[in-house]
Amino acid sequence: MIVALNNKSNLTNTEFKDYYQELLKIDRNNHDIILIPSMLNIPLANSDELKIGSQDVSSFGMGAYTGEVNTKQLLDSNVEYCLVGHSERREYQRVSNSDTNTKIKVLLEDKIIPILCIGESKEERDNNTYKEVLIKQIQEGLVNIKDISSIIIAYEPIWSIGTGIIPNNGQVEEVFEIIKKFLPNQTILYGGSANEENIDELKKISLIDGYLLGGLSLKPNKLQQFLNRL
Ligand code: PGA
Repeated sequence: MIVALNNKSNLTNTEFKDYYQELLKIDRNNHDIILIPSMLNIPLANSDELKIGSQDVSSFGMGAYTGEVNTKQLLDSNVEYCLVGHSERREYQRVSNSDTNTKIKVLLEDKIIPILCIGESKEERDNNTYKEVLIKQIQEGLVNIKDISSIIIAYEPIWSIGTGIIPNNGQVEEVFEIIKKFLPNQTILYGGSANEENIDELKKISLIDGYLLGGLSLKPNKLQQFLNRL
């Protein structure tokens, strides 16, 4: 299975060096680990043992785009994967579905694998508009992309991210079935408060191809317990 570790905006260079050594000691039990550090820590993740992802990418190429990091720079730091449209970027940086589409195209051109994050808010879940919201995120995110085969989808209900609340298995299954209807061959990850305690329940869902972990990514010991149970 794929286990992607989203460090978010955590760990200074100094802290990351220790953390990375701990991570390298982990027994991966044949799972594919993708480490997604904050940008400044990417060059420090220099072992071939763990694949590297970026938390975002510029929609533009090399050039006069202050504050951006482009695909060529990511490639040169051995980045193979990139999150697109994580809910925190949708919320705080106003990344739109159209932006996710542009970023995916830019990534595919340079053969970096996009991980398109989709998810509904608590309000959208409660007022029963979540299905339309998720379908729109998929359709608009993938519009006019000829070959979507390499793209990974991560379903992360926003109300579950960092809250300790996870959807029940029926809720996860329902969404995975909707995604599979549109994208039958896509790899789909689950993200949102997944941890070493709830993995026994989550792993009963056969449609899940892997996990995107935030909080747990920062705790190598607990991550080891998670991997042992996976
Ligand atoms: P969490 O974060 O595991 O801390 O809920 C997941 C994510 O935001 O990718």
